[in-house]
Amino acid sequence: MTLLKDIYPLYLNNKAEQPNTDLEVTDKFTGAIAFRVAQADAATIDKGIAGAVRAAEPMARMASYERQAVLQHCVDRFKARFDELAYALCVEAGKPIKDSEGEVGRLIDTFRIAAEESVRMTGEVQPLDIAPRAKGYQGIWKRVPIGPCSFISPFNFPLNLAAHKIAPALAVGCPFVMKPASRTPLGAIIIGEVLAETDLPEGAFSILPAHREGADLFTEDDRLKLLSFTGSPGVGWDLKAKAGKKKVVLELGGNAAVIVDHDADLDDALERIIFGAFYQSGQSCIGVQRIIIHESVYDRFRDMLVARTKTLVAGDPKDRNTFIGPMISEGEARRLDGWIQQAVSGGATLLCGGKRDGAMLEATLLDQVDRSSAVYREEAFGPVALLSKFSDFNAALEEVNDSKFGLQAGIFTRDLFKMFDAWDRLEVGGVVINDVPSYRVDNMPYGGVKDSGLGREGIRFAMEDMTEIRNLVIRRR
Ligand code: SIN
Repeated sequence: MTLLKDIYPLYLNNKAEQPNTDLEVTDKFTGAIAFRVAQADAATIDKGIAGAVRAAEPMARMASYERQAVLQHCVDRFKARFDELAYALCVEAGKPIKDSEGEVGRLIDTFRIAAEESVRMTGEVQPLDIAPRAKGYQGIWKRVPIGPCSFISPFNFPLNLAAHKIAPALAVGCPFVMKPASRTPLGAIIIGEVLAETDLPEGAFSILPAHREGADLFTEDDRLKLLSFTGSPGVGWDLKAKAGKKKVVLELGGNAAVIVDHDADLDDALERIIFGAFYQSGQSCIGVQRIIIHESVYDRFRDMLVARTKTLVAGDPKDRNTFIGPMISEGEARRLDGWIQQAVSGGATLLCGGKRDGAMLEATLLDQVDRSSAVYREEAFGPVALLSKFSDFNAALEEVNDSKFGLQAGIFTRDLFKMFDAWDRLEVGGVVINDVPSYRVDNMPYGGVKDSGLGREGIRFAMEDMTEIRNLVIRRR
């Protein structure tokens, strides 16, 4: 398989344009330039925002079945282009081909869910006659599109995390401008190519890989009514501070934990935790970073984890046997390698892994890690997981909460009471029982608390963010 083109356009006001070929995108495994993409300057971004403003009214007037047809077209086209999309991810993100195929499947799910939800935007009839002064009054509220939206999407899921912004916007009738990650712009550009086949109103979408110069417009321009950003916590909170009056949704990072209790099915937990910690080289906001194991099964489960981790095949992501591919860049691998070395100098035990070759970092397990070390406190966003031991379940819950982040947590237990305690007490956006925090289905509410973000994705929930309630009060005389 090869990519269809070696030069790709940007999409401005629904149309492909090729003003330059400024952005060089590398194959993350070989390091060679794989293709070139046009980049938008400030004037181009400004035109995209102006187009989105013009499109707001015609988009809001589209009938539900028309919005649904656009989303259904995307579903059909993504199915038809499945292999090409998976290959594009594998090249631009270095994502192992099986994970890439998994992401294309999720892209299709995300658009399919949006197509279903697009015809279900309901409101409510509300009796208002709660006091003598309101006798004879009643209300009806409905949702209306918030208006032009700004989207900034990350490198780790170039298709599906772009889809989690684009699909709900189309479902409710919001035009948008999107800045995809410069290291992996192709996923969003192919979505643009497919949207350009539809008859969306002119200006409905612009997909604009961008120079730094001008990129501030995505955050600061007041014509945009909502900013939805997925990426690193530092950048996300900084953007929020600059976003002015617009609504802000942030899907940021985490250092997710999983608890393995004494009654867990260890063979099952092993396979799920290996997946959660190391799939796509740990570059997921909900990748397993901390594994908190009951003392009665600690030694056994530690040995199982180490033995299984050593079997993971690392190498070329295009090879179907590969489980661990490169990290997104050598710089990122070097950063995490440094954190691992620091933890070991501070007294941690390296159980396996820990070697780096360029952007390839081995799947690494550490125990006895000092809780003040960067690899414990910060988001690792790479193939490393830390083991610790607990005797009391409440202390394990406290350890999960000992984090500035709070995205998702996993618990392997058969105890119903512990499940409810965890659900009540964990400071996270979601608790996953008998699976890893890395588990996500695309219709579930997804997002974090604390430094992990604001708002929820999951189509229905994003549709709420992308709409305003408009009330109607009726007085009967
Ligand atoms: C993320 O890394 O933020 C998203 C993870 C996922 O969608 O599975």
